Amino acid sequence: MFLPLFLTCTLLSIQVAAASDSILDVTAPTPASLACDTLRLELGSTIVETSGAQYNQTTQNTWSLFNSFERPTCIVYPQSAFQVQIAMTNIFVFGAHYAVQAGAHSAMVGYNSITNGVLISFANMTSVSYSTSTGTITVQPGAHFGDIETAVEPYGVSVLGGRASDIGTGLLLGGGISFVSPLYGWSADSIKAMDVVLGGANRFGIVTRYELYPLQTGNRNNKAWYGGLIVYPGSQSVALSNASAKYIREVTDPKAGLIVLLNVINATDPAANAIYLFYKGASLPTSIFGDFLAIPSTLQSLSALSYYDISNLIAGNGRGNGQQFGASSLVGDETAFLNSYNHLVNFTQSFASELAASYMIISPVPVSQWNATAASGGNAIGNPGVSYAAMNYNLIYPAGVKAASAGVLAGFKLLLSQIPPSPGLPLYVNECDASQNIFATYPNFSALKNTYAKYDPLRFNIGHTAGPIGL
Ligand SMILES: Cc1cc2nc3c(=O)[nH]c(=O)nc-3n(C[C@H](O)[C@H](O)[C@H](O)COP(=O)(O)OP(=O)(O)OC[C@H]3O[C@@H](n4cnc5c(N)ncnc54)[C@H](O)[C@@H]3O)c2cc1C
Ligand SMILES: *[C@@H]1O[C@H](CO)[C@@H](O)[C@H](O)[C@H]1NC(C)=O
Ligand SMILES: *[C@@H]1O[C@H](CO)[C@@H](O)[C@H](O)[C@H]1NC(C)=O
Ligand SMILES: *[C@@H]1O[C@H](CO)[C@@H](O)[C@H](O)[C@H]1NC(C)=O
Ligand SMILES: *[C@@H]1O[C@H](CO)[C@@H](O)[C@H](O)[C@H]1NC(C)=O
Ligand SMILES: *[C@@H]1O[C@H](CO)[C@@H](O)[C@H](O)[C@H]1NC(C)=O
Ligand SMILES: *[C@@H]1O[C@H](CO)[C@@H](O)[C@H](O)[C@H]1NC(C)=O
Ligand SMILES: *[C@@H]1O[C@H](CO)[C@@H](O)[C@H](O)[C@H]1NC(C)=O
Repeated sequence: MFLPLFLTCTLLSIQVAAASDSILDVTAPTPASLACDTLRLELGSTIVETSGAQYNQTTQNTWSLFNSFERPTCIVYPQSAFQVQIAMTNIFVFGAHYAVQAGAHSAMVGYNSITNGVLISFANMTSVSYSTSTGTITVQPGAHFGDIETAVEPYGVSVLGGRASDIGTGLLLGGGISFVSPLYGWSADSIKAMDVVLGGANRFGIVTRYELYPLQTGNRNNKAWYGGLIVYPGSQSVALSNASAKYIREVTDPKAGLIVLLNVINATDPAANAIYLFYKGASLPTSIFGDFLAIPSTLQSLSALSYYDISNLIAGNGRGNGQQFGASSLVGDETAFLNSYNHLVNFTQSFASELAASYMIISPVPVSQWNATAASGGNAIGNPGVSYAAMNYNLIYPAGVKAASAGVLAGFKLLLSQIPPSPGLPLYVNECDASQNIFATYPNFSALKNTYAKYDPLRFNIGHTAGPIGL
């Protein structure tokens, strides 16, 4: 089956090259061009695109500007798992490099687009359904969490996703932190079943369907939560860092949800810092949120909310800036948090001319979250047995900057080495930097390595796609 196609497309490829306008384009076929030519024959030129409006939309719409300059040899828009199998088979047969894109929110360069390679985009596999007979939500990988939430809300259920509605289903592959994770666990704990095209987070295969257990939250009129947004001036960063450390250490109530975003660059900005805080109940208990409520703020937007409302408070759909993530995990110790913040300040000031902003983002991962995880069978991240903060360091580059400089990258590596996770704590892969060996922080690292070796004995995935290191 493949041999005749291979020959045909070798010829095709040469003809295409010879017919193009620049003499420099007359190059030998590459693994990617061969895979793309074959895929066009097998799937058609609507599903396999090399230019045009949808090609431009997919390439240019990545959350991080840094990924928007990649130019895939072709983009495959599968409409079924079978077509993903065909794509993966050809990628493998021709030894092409490839990338997979769902919601396009990765902060890692090259994780969701590629140059001189095949991009598989799930932009045309976006269906969402709720079955009253199985009681589960079935989603295709191209759906965004806001769309999923909107589709299932009329049934009085919700999906355990992230905290920004624009994020895609790639979140489920790395864990997933929602505002209600302290109550229900990591988002990945809600997975009942997945269809996976093996061939390979993205290292273990390509997921073509997720079947998820819903949350029984009620619909958009069921305002079972209270909370929202508080904005603080840059002068309150240290007070907020301290309040966060104490919160992480002391709050055990699974009905509480929080995220803290501390801005570094602009200390004089009256709206530099923000927190989102929620409680499943009629008000925000001062025994839990008192410290945050006491810190002088510049804006408070608090009200009774449904989970649907909460899911739509943050869109997270900004575009146009290069973005970078790094991760740490800290126990609730004021000095550890301040140390982390001060190192980020030093880094940010050292490279102030190259950065638009930087944030230290604090997400509580309390013991109750792990208890919920255990109740649904556990996950690979591994319960460390203590409440801690998943720390995310988000660098935002000025609009128009196309790539991070070597100096910033070296400085960021130094920063991450200065603020390592507290002993025994796992790092969160969805918020990390590509240089961080996340899986090595999981207690069952050897089982992950064995699983990878079992499903990809030739290590094709590691050799041909960008993704987490360490396997
Ligand atoms: C603004 C913003 C807010 C965020 N908020 C949260 C949050 O509240 N909670 C949280 O937990 N995380 C959050 N994240 C991190 C988020 O979980 C990760 O960025 C996640 O990887 C995004 O998935 P995606 O599908 O949108 O992105 P993509 O870039 O499309 O995918 C991410 C990675 O997963 C791979 N992948 C995606 N789909 C598949 C598939 N079907 N099969 C195989 N590999 C696949 C891709 O190749 C890529 O390497 C946030 C990120 C951003 C940018
Ligand atoms: C994908 O969906 C878009 C928008 O619905 C449509 O215009 C396009 O033709 C589809 N592409 C493929 C390859 O099915
Ligand atoms: C796609 O983008 C390219 C390069 O930016 C541009 O030349 C081309 O006109 C665009 N095509 C469409 C259909 O928008
Ligand atoms: C923050 O905590 C540190 C260490 O406990 C303390 O020295 C400092 O005064 C606190 N600052 C604020 C503003 O709370
Ligand atoms: C900092 O914020 C202030 C107030 O919003 C603004 O006037 C100033 O331009 C900002 N500075 C930088 C470097 O962004
Ligand atoms: C978590 O589970 C442990 C063991 O079952 C239990 O002792 C503890 O009280 C639980 N903690 C919370 C916060 O749910
Ligand atoms: C501050 O950052 C710069 C640039 O990365 C680095 O050279 C310096 O060692 C850092 N200082 C401290 C105290 O960490
Ligand atoms: C590690 O994973 C293997 C394989 O899934 C499992 O049998 C074993 O119990 C796990 N060990 C721990 C400590 O979780």
